[in-house]
Amino acid sequence: MMDKAETIRRIEALRAEIDHHNRRYYQLDDPEVSDAAYDRLMRELAELEASVPSLDLTGSPTQRVGAAPLEKFGTVTHLTPMLSLANAFSHEEMLEFDGRIRRLLDTEGPIGYVVELKMDGVAVNLLYEDGLLVKGATRGDGEHGEDITQNIRTIRSIPLKFKANPGIAVPARIEIRGEIYMKTEPFRRFNRRRLEAGEPPFANPRNAAAGSLRQLDPQITARRPLDFFCYGIGHVEGASFASHWEILQTLKDWGFPVNERAGRAADIRECIAFYDKTEAGREELPYEIDGVVVKVDALALQDALGAVSRSPRWAIACKYQPTQEQTVVRKIDVQVGRTGVLTPVAIMEPVHLGGVVVSRATLHNEDEIKKKDVREGDTVVIQRAGDVIPEVVKVIVEKRPDGAKPFQMPDTCPVCGSKVVRLEGEVGTRCLEFDCPAQIKLRLAHFASRGGLDIEGMGEAMANILVDSGTVKDPSDLYKIPRERLLTFERMGEKSTDNLLSAIDRSRKPPLDRFLYALGIRHVGEHMARVLAARFEGVEALMTATEEDLIAVQDVGPEVAAAIVSYFANPSNRRMIEKLTAAGVEPQATAGSRAAASGPLSGKTFVFTGTLGRMTRSAAKTLALSLGGQVSETVKKGVDYVVAGADPGSKLAKAGKLGIPVIDEEQFIKLTEEG
Ligand code: IVH
Repeated sequence: MMDKAETIRRIEALRAEIDHHNRRYYQLDDPEVSDAAYDRLMRELAELEASVPSLDLTGSPTQRVGAAPLEKFGTVTHLTPMLSLANAFSHEEMLEFDGRIRRLLDTEGPIGYVVELKMDGVAVNLLYEDGLLVKGATRGDGEHGEDITQNIRTIRSIPLKFKANPGIAVPARIEIRGEIYMKTEPFRRFNRRRLEAGEPPFANPRNAAAGSLRQLDPQITARRPLDFFCYGIGHVEGASFASHWEILQTLKDWGFPVNERAGRAADIRECIAFYDKTEAGREELPYEIDGVVVKVDALALQDALGAVSRSPRWAIACKYQPTQEQTVVRKIDVQVGRTGVLTPVAIMEPVHLGGVVVSRATLHNEDEIKKKDVREGDTVVIQRAGDVIPEVVKVIVEKRPDGAKPFQMPDTCPVCGSKVVRLEGEVGTRCLEFDCPAQIKLRLAHFASRGGLDIEGMGEAMANILVDSGTVKDPSDLYKIPRERLLTFERMGEKSTDNLLSAIDRSRKPPLDRFLYALGIRHVGEHMARVLAARFEGVEALMTATEEDLIAVQDVGPEVAAAIVSYFANPSNRRMIEKLTAAGVEPQATAGSRAAASGPLSGKTFVFTGTLGRMTRSAAKTLALSLGGQVSETVKKGVDYVVAGADPGSKLAKAGKLGIPVIDEEQFIKLTEEG
């Protein structure tokens, strides 16, 4: 047992280490440790923090998730108003901006600028006091925004506190401003998961970021892949700067993410060059931008210039042309997804759109296509949102050819010909045939994907070859492909064949969570797979779990529970898992689940209610789960303890009625120590 001083030293070391890993992961995109190792550090920290009464939890990485849902957002008055930017759409307008500034400042010489990318996200204002994040707010009307502090805390690239930096003093109060955004790739994955779950996808990363920030329940925001760049400050006490560039460098030193693609420009010509160069490379960026921002560098000059009608005179947003185009729909195809969902896709006359040639656009589902009434032969406006397949914005009805017929969803699967159904309450139409080749291929590619068994060289193209040639019917067949067979396929030489075979061989002992994800159970994405792997010892245990068992696990809702039970009720799925086992695939239980099986709380189910004093309710739930306990959201038979904080509500009465013991937080902590 560590004594208190040792525990506190360990807590401090863990906090610093986790902050460091957060920066590696979320700011530098270059993690040093595996997710499992990171989870272990977080779990150790949560446990140690819970063991020290009266510990100050402000700024701890454990505080990123877990605050209770709000009824509605409060209002925050910004200390200095958040202005917006005037726009320029061409080189000429940029030159006019520069001319205006030189006239106002009465100078002949060049003006020094800072050039930045204009992130397409949501503007936020973050208030730090003595280096600690105290408030996060949306821009709102510029004077007052919504208080989204709880949600802001969940975004890993936003420091909860300044990085200790001996060279630079921490200001007493400072408003840090920047943009919350979603990177294109995570956005695509997120949207794909929504589609699979029958939820409407977001049109673009900006809407997804805005929608995620507007959640009253911070646990939902915590699961969204949000990111942050800061680009300036508002009110500040206890620090002073001479230039905007100095502000950006100092923010970086304080541990804030500042876009590396910002630079200093000696004059407006260099700004124009940056604007053009950035547009040419726009498609390669991992996020969406809608232009660049040019800012006068010297703060003395900014002050002299001031603002007009809510926009500073010293900065301008130089926008790119909108990425919308018109084209003609040649034909509407219907594609079959991994879970059998049918997606109508418009095949169009190829057209340039935001730097790429586009010839396909998703029409999402039957309801969407009906709403927009897209028909073969129609002229449509399309737009690209992120790296997503472009979508049809609207039909130009005046240009519709005579005789164009409304689209009809087919009643049989376009790939396997079996009857399709539209299940109640779902927007998607599905092919329910397990052996539909389209689904087999996509299941196979998903099984081998990076989040799954991570078999290099086993992407969709390879899956098509293997399924079409009859070599593979389900993932278990991968483990017995004869080498000679692979060699017969086009472009499979000795080297690529051996590489693929050894990648397959190396995948035999996957971590349990990745294996569960690889199975492709509906609603079980990477996060849910981790939740399940932390709670269940192995696939067997999950297979025998009832819906009730599953719902008792925190984060598992009724929909997910039903999907899991129905997956394992399907004999084809069970057979496939048996065959995988026979082929020598052995998922490895994660450290968490082993600890859980033998933890001091194993076999006990807890309900948490009211406001706890030492930790948030969510931290308490995580602690209970990590020590082998179960967590239930409702008081019902089978619950062993109700842990009540302040203002517990109706759950206490219910516990009384059912004769379930009610304990306080101290008693709960005792249990975690003693079992
Ligand atoms: S500076 C007074 N810099 O664009 C200066 N804004 O209408 C205020 N934005 O609301 C903004 N990237 O949400 C600035 N590098 C950047 C930006 C940026 C995106 C957004 C911001 C602002 C809007 C301007």
